[in-house]
Parts: sequence; C-alpha cells; structure tokens
Amino acid sequence: MFASRKGIRAFARTHDKKQPVADSKTPSASPAKRRILVTAALPYANGHIHLGHLVEYIQTDIWVRFQKLRGNECIYICADDTHGTAIMIRARQEGRSEEALIADMREAHIADFARFHIEFDNYGSTHSDENRELCGEFWAKLRKAGLVHEKEVTQLYDVKAGTFLADRFVKGTCPNCKSPDQYGDSCDKCGTTYTPADLINPKSTLSGTTPEMRSADHLFVQIEQLHGFLQDWTQSGDHLQREIANYLAGHFLGDPLRDWDVSRPAPYFGFEIPDSPGNYWYVWFDAPIGYVASTAQWCKTHGQKLDDWWRGGKAEVHHFIGKDITYFHTLFWPAMLKTAEFNLPTKIHVHGFLTVDGEKMSKSKGTFVRGATYADHLDPVYLRYYYASKLGPGLDDLDLNRDEFVSKVNSDLVGKVVNLASRTAKFIQDVGLSPTYPDDGGLFATAAAEGEAIATAYEACDYNRAMRLIMALADKANQFVDNAAPWKLKNDSARAVELQNACTISLNLFRQLVIYLAPVLPSLRNQTEELLGQGVSRWEDVGKPLVGVKINQFKHMIKRVEPAQLEAMIEASKEEPKVTDAQSQPTSDAAPAAPEADSGAALEAEPLVTDVISIDDFTKVDLRVARVVNAEEVPKAKKLVKLTLSLGGDNTRTVFAGIKSAYEPEKLIGRLVIVVANLAPRQMTFGVSEGMVVAAGAGGTEIYLLNPDSGAKPGQRVH
Ligand code: MSP
Ligand code: ZN
Repeated sequence: MFASRKGIRAFARTHDKKQPVADSKTPSASPAKRRILVTAALPYANGHIHLGHLVEYIQTDIWVRFQKLRGNECIYICADDTHGTAIMIRARQEGRSEEALIADMREAHIADFARFHIEFDNYGSTHSDENRELCGEFWAKLRKAGLVHEKEVTQLYDVKAGTFLADRFVKGTCPNCKSPDQYGDSCDKCGTTYTPADLINPKSTLSGTTPEMRSADHLFVQIEQLHGFLQDWTQSGDHLQREIANYLAGHFLGDPLRDWDVSRPAPYFGFEIPDSPGNYWYVWFDAPIGYVASTAQWCKTHGQKLDDWWRGGKAEVHHFIGKDITYFHTLFWPAMLKTAEFNLPTKIHVHGFLTVDGEKMSKSKGTFVRGATYADHLDPVYLRYYYASKLGPGLDDLDLNRDEFVSKVNSDLVGKVVNLASRTAKFIQDVGLSPTYPDDGGLFATAAAEGEAIATAYEACDYNRAMRLIMALADKANQFVDNAAPWKLKNDSARAVELQNACTISLNLFRQLVIYLAPVLPSLRNQTEELLGQGVSRWEDVGKPLVGVKINQFKHMIKRVEPAQLEAMIEASKEEPKVTDAQSQPTSDAAPAAPEADSGAALEAEPLVTDVISIDDFTKVDLRVARVVNAEEVPKAKKLVKLTLSLGGDNTRTVFAGIKSAYEPEKLIGRLVIVVANLAPRQMTFGVSEGMVVAAGAGGTEIYLLNPDSGAKPGQRVH
C-alpha cells in the first residue's frame, strides 16, 4: 500500500487507462464523476465536542453529502488527534494510561457526531499503526531531501513532573509590564511576546515548582528550502481563499521561513522517532498525516488503494479547517506532502469562529455548550439548518443569536418547508398523487431550473446563499397553497380532482425543496421518503415530478422550537457537568447523555481491581460526611480549590482539591461531600492539605463529587 517509486509509476499508468470508465454510472449529459477526499480537522482528544467544533463538522458534512447527492465519489475522513503533552498530563492526573483516556474520548466524540447526523466514512485515531507507518514514510522522505537538521534547544524543565514545559505550562510575571500570572509565550495585559525563560519568577503550572533551564537536541525541518514552491502554491489563486493567501504573503512569505521544530524529548505521548531514540514527533507533525492514515484504514475496509486517493492526482483533496490552524495547513502540510510525493490539497476551506449572542463562548454565561448538552435539549436538525443559513465562503465569524435561531427554525423550517406537506398530504392520503402532473403555472419548472444556482452555491460553501435560494422557492410554493386553499375544497366532492391536483403540486414542490435541503437535513429527507414511499436521494429528481403513486400517512416532521428549550440548555451548560447542591435531585444534565452513561467505557478505561481486600483493610480508611463551609480559588493553582470542611462541631479541615476544572468554588459552599479523614496531611505549595474529598470521573470537566442522600450529617462515618 505504501508504494515504492516504482509502484507509483505503475499506478499512474493504470490510471491513464482507467479514466474514461470512471463515470459509467452517471448519465452521459452529467459532468464526469469526481473522486473527492474531504477532511475536517481532527478534534483534540482532550476535550468534548462543543458548538464551536460543530460549525466545522456540520459545514463539512453538508459539503460531503452534497457531493454524494450529485453522484460524485466522495469520502469524509476524520480522526481523533491524540498526541501531545496535554493528553499526557491529563492522563497522569487521572491516574490512567493515555490509551485509556483517548479510547474514552474517541467514543464520546463518535457518539456526539452521530447525534448531529455527521457521517464520516472513516473516523480513525492518530494513535494508530497506519499513522505510525506513514509518519515513518514522510520522515524518511524529509530526511532524504536533506531537510532535517538537529539543533540544541534550551527550555524550561519541571524537575518534579519530569518533563520539559511547553509555553502554556509556565506562568510568571510579565518581564515588560510586571503583571503577575502570565503564560510563558505572551502577556495578556500588555501583549508583549517573549519566551518562558524571560518570565520573572516562572512557575510550572504542572507542579507549582520553579522550573530550571535544560538543553536537549531537537530536530528541525528547514521549510525555507521549499519557499519558492510555497510562494507559488499559496498564491496561485486556486487553493486558498484570497484572505488566506494575503495573510500568508503578508505574515510569512515576505521573510525566510523559520525552521520548524518537529521533535520533542521524552516524556511525550506520541510516536518515538525511529532514527532518533528518546525523541518523539511533535503532535502537529503526526496530526495531519492522520488524514492519510485514516484514509488508509478506510481503503483497507473498502478494498481500495490508498494511492488512488493520495497520489498521482487521481482524487481531489479538500481540507476544512478553522482559521486558528491556518498556518499548519497552508505552509507545513503542503511542504510535507510535496516532499513525500503525495497529492497536494486541491482546496483548503477556512472558516471563522463561533460566537454566541455576539460574544465569545463563555463557560460562566452558559454559552460554552457541549454538543451533547445541546442535543439533550434541542433537535440537532435546527442547528444544522441554522449554521447552514449563516455559513458563507469567507472567514467571517458566525454568530449564534438565540432570537434569530428561534425565528429561522420556526419560520423557515417549520413555517415554510414542513408546512407544505403538513397542510396538504392528509387530503390525498386515500387517492394518492394525480396520475399526471397538473398545470402549476410553471412553479415546478422554475424550481428545477434553480438547481444549478443552488448547486453552485453549495460547491462554493456559500450555504447562506443556497438557503436563501431554497427559501425563496418555498415562499412561492406557499403562495400557491394559500391560493389553492385545499382545506376549503376538502368537503366538496365536485372539486375532488382540483383538491388532488393542488396537493400533488404542493407535495412535488415540497419534494424538490427536500432534495435541495438533503445535504443539510438528511433526516427530513428520510421522513419524506417514508411519506412518499419513494427514494428522495438523487439530485436529478428535482426535474421530474412524482405522479400516480399512493402516499403514506403524514407523520410529524420537525417541531417548532421553544425559546425555553434554549434557556434550559444555557442553564444546563452553566451547571455542567454536575449538580452542585448536595440536597437537590439529579436534573437531566446531571445524568449525562445516554451515549456516555452506560456504555461500559468507564470499566474499560479503568478495569476493576482484582486484588481483594479484607474488611479490616477497608475500615482503615476513615471516610466521613463533611459539609463544605468555605471554598475558594487558589490564585496561583489552576486546578485547585481550597475547601474548608466541617466534620461537625468545630472540627474543621482544610483540603486542597483538584476540582476547579469542574466546579466553581462558590457553588460548593453548603453542600455535603465525602472526605478521607485519616489521610496523612500533605504539604503543598499553597498550604497543608488535611484529607481528600472523593470523586468519580475522568478528570477535567468530568469530575463528580460524591453526595450522601439527604439526611446525612457532617461527621457521620461511611461504612
Ligand atoms: N487537533 C487540532 C487539529 C489537527 S488537524 C490535523 C485542533 N483541534 S481542535 O479540537 O482544537 O479543533 C478542531 C477544529 O474545530 C479546528 O478546525 C478548529 O478551528 C475548530 N474549532 C474549534 N473551536 C471553534 C469555534 N469556537 N468556532 C469554530 N470552529 C472552531 O485544532
Ligand atoms: Zn505585560
């Protein structure tokens, strides 16, 4: 599969011969069938899918579904991005292996995507054999091209945690304006950029200790050697949006390109570099190769050759990404592909960021909404349509405005589209559609003629325009129904044919809209197939009315959205991921969404302990009910909350708990927790911790403190 040079030439020859046969399935009038590989950026395995991510995965899913609907051979490839320091640290904090952590996360991501009808042809992982092998292949080519050089790098090192520190794992006082608590790369008060070593009084955010300077050899790729190629490729006008090409020209291509540091010394969660033991490929080296690796997996299960998709220019390659990762995809990635002799991207489609009600998503405002939380409260179909109606071909940020969301869903989807069917289908349940298509004054033909304009808009990722064109057709169709007023004809047997004709026209106009909307609303397509008893899966069908068939009972399709549902989602996101009041009943968001609740993943990640203990062993642990009487942030510690616990009377304890990622301190005050009361006191940077509160969960935002049932009193022992 990983063809030698000779193999590539061989494929190139067969390709030439095969080409004319490729579109044998498409009608001769249609343009040749394209072979299109589409990717969305690989989500990091250290966080859950949120509404911001979904802008991208939905945008891409719509494009892929559109291509498939048009009869092209198209695959949607994605994977979890699993490597790097953040995953390693998180796994350590959770006391489990990185493999267990990423397996859990992948399962959660897949479940979230499925709820939004996002359908990948393959969802892989960068921690796969295919990826390791391909990384080796890319690496060998970079070496052979003489692009890899070794240089010594001096970096801060956390002796206690035993690891070098990436910039964002170091905090200290800004060397310029002296603001405390700034990250190691730049000051968010004065904007100065610097290296972590420039910080005054730097501290590791991992251990709170003062890091020391240490040197290590790193491997660098000299992409400056590909400057000319990158200049041409980025500025050709074919592959990148104009704004992106200009940004690259203005920010990077005017100067020599800086060497790219692609290795990290151990410990690092990733792939060890075969010819440089103790060094690992940096996560951004192996992540984009993950696109190819995930394709390789798909090829294996579909009897296809990887080279047909990634070499010899036989397929188009389209990457969809957010603007924050432009640099990696438009400079390094083409440079790597070029050197390793893979296909270059046909297009990189860059989109903007999601804001909610005009502001950045915010955890405290409840606008940082997980996909799962959204889907617990609202139909994913709404979000797909809303995003489609907002997405254009540019880089503009996209705002989720709650009022607009409600009005678009209710007036467009329910009021204009579904209404066409719900107002008419019931009148012809018995007789079916008219035997020949009646005179509709040209409505059907006009809508069919709009098909190419709508297709052009989809192709250009101008979904906003596509939705406007479709809704304009829906308006015309509704005018027709309003005028024909079938509800007035229904009891007049003399006008039965007129009634059947009006409903036939209305349902055919509805069917056209459903085909045009199918990339956005695959579920509406399915519901319509059920209603009409016919496939609604070919774009060409917009030109051919459906007549003379019986139809099935109309069933509800899309419900109106209630503003209260949005409110509930926002409230749930504020509280996420748990109930903070010890006495309150679990609410729907306290019981997490079904896919995670009982999937067995927890046991798989952390198998049951097989060593049995005696009851005496157990009673050595003095577990007590305690009330949180005070909870406050520990200014310098990102993870810790300082708890003052009452065990009854005036017996209090101070406990530093690593739960800040999941709980706001104020909300903890007053609730009951379970504490290990006889744990040896532990000296921490911020004071002495006199016990430990127990919690379940994977860590991060998934920490669930234990609650006794109501009635339990502080000081009571847990037996
Ligand atoms: N792991 C990298 C991508 C590696 S690709 C070889 C990464 N992961 S991510 O989880 O942070 O983001 C995944 C995608 O979601 C990126 O394209 C990113 O731009 C996009 N988005 C993340 N947050 C977003 C918003 N708030 N709004 C829109 N898109 C967002 O980057
Ligand atoms: Zn500063």
